Amino acid sequence: MPHYDDPALLLAVEEQLAAAAPVVTPAGCARLREEMAKVAKGEAYLLQGGDCAESFNDAVADRVARLSGLFDAMDGVLSDGLGLPILHVARIGGQFAKPRSAATEARGPVELPAYRGDIINGIGFSGEERRADPQRMLRAHLQSVGTVATLKAARGGRDPVYTSHEGLLLPYEEALTRQDEDGRWWATSGHMLWLGYRTNDLDGAHVDYLSGIENVVGVKVGPGMDADQVLALAERLDPRNRAGKLLLIARFGAKRIEAELPALMQATQAAGLNAAWSVDPMHGNTETIEGRKVRRVDAIERDIAAFFAIARAQGVHASGVHLEMSPDDVTECLGGSGPTDPSDLDRAYRTACDPRLNPGQATALASFIAGLA
Ligand code: PEP
Ligand code: CO
Repeated sequence: MPHYDDPALLLAVEEQLAAAAPVVTPAGCARLREEMAKVAKGEAYLLQGGDCAESFNDAVADRVARLSGLFDAMDGVLSDGLGLPILHVARIGGQFAKPRSAATEARGPVELPAYRGDIINGIGFSGEERRADPQRMLRAHLQSVGTVATLKAARGGRDPVYTSHEGLLLPYEEALTRQDEDGRWWATSGHMLWLGYRTNDLDGAHVDYLSGIENVVGVKVGPGMDADQVLALAERLDPRNRAGKLLLIARFGAKRIEAELPALMQATQAAGLNAAWSVDPMHGNTETIEGRKVRRVDAIERDIAAFFAIARAQGVHASGVHLEMSPDDVTECLGGSGPTDPSDLDRAYRTACDPRLNPGQATALASFIAGLA
């Protein structure tokens, strides 16, 4: 959680958000949960994807239209191969806060607070930019409202694209939590929120917040987590074990998935958990080359193939995939139709955080997944 040096300003922002329009409606969130119940039962496949981090500089209308088109292109390939309808969930309309492994960033002799996403501070390398400013939450909220309205218009009467983001910045999330007529609490910042790999302490504030909302909740499951921890998180987040409520997102990386995931799937099967399992083949496959984060398409493919094989062996539905992808022709991941040599990354390396697949790489990956079914 960021430190805000003006508590009165933080409070004023929280009050404004609490009185502001919800970004999404409880009814929309409830619809996603019904759709996710089909995913959990193996009757649909979840395609979740988008930017690692949205930016206040995004040209919203253009971005939304092109991301929506990328979902359709991937849907066409996936639904044919898998023989299932595809549920679309984007990382958009609220994906502004980033967990960081280091609190500061040093460039030469200068050390400043790390960039934590546009909803918290600025990406520019200056003391003023890197100061946590609560008023950024208001800007993120407005951009999200605009993004969701644009997304709805872009889809027309077709399959909707639901929204999702990491439930990280609790002052923002709590201020946008609303009660429905039946007294149930919903996060109205996005349809699905997920618990990040770095904030999954069972007694921590993030788990506590996510345990109180009705929305679909994702849980990143990664290296070092054991079966007891996964089962305890599931019990805490959804004691009623409802199909469609919880999504476990395996993000081990190609090097560790085979050693670590089978025992966890075995445990969730033995416990009769109705949670769905999807794979995030991005966050366990990040490398640093010459100070820049990169991901290789071949590691991403190996991770996904291992996930399908393990799920099949354990009798679990391989329910979905979670990708970082851009509708722009970026050069951030190596391989496939993208750059092959690290020196080619310079051309269009634009991400505010992690490397994303470009449309060619993402669509080819959809074919790869379709071929695994
Ligand atoms: C993310 O999905 O952007 C992310 C930070 O993931 P994880 O918590 O799995 O590292
Ligand atoms: Co990321």
